[in-house]
Amino acid sequence: MPAGLHAAAVLALLLVVAMVRAEITSFCKCTCGPNSIILELTREGLSNLPLAQEPIDLDSLSPIACMNCTRALCSKANRDLCNDAGANEEITPLCFRKLLALQHTMNAAMASRPCVALPGKDMPF
Ligand SMILES: *[C@@H]1O[C@H](CO)[C@@H](O)[C@H](O)[C@H]1NC(C)=O
Repeated sequence: MPAGLHAAAVLALLLVVAMVRAEITSFCKCTCGPNSIILELTREGLSNLPLAQEPIDLDSLSPIACMNCTRALCSKANRDLCNDAGANEEITPLCFRKLLALQHTMNAAMASRPCVALPGKDMPF
């Protein structure tokens, strides 16, 4: 393969990888007895929790979002989580990931990587 073509192929691959990474959001499902809640493991998702027991320390969030899907996070996020649960019920955290819409992906990719010279930078999104 000619060198220029090879470089273009690598750049295209990196862009695809960046977008796929950006479109995956992690969530934490917290279950306690009959109750369950779903937390979006992002700064936005964790900063607006009306039933929080105490504010979540957003600066301590791990870059590997699922690392923060813990019993401690679940119990901070909702003070009523274990209401109606039996005395020996425990919180069970479950991390899962979800693909978000393409438009959102584009926005996230553009917003989080301002230093990457994207071809067609003035495309309307
Ligand atoms: C998130 O996880 C990291 C690494 O385990 C931990 O140090 C930090 O305290 C956690 N933050 C919250 C809000 O749970």
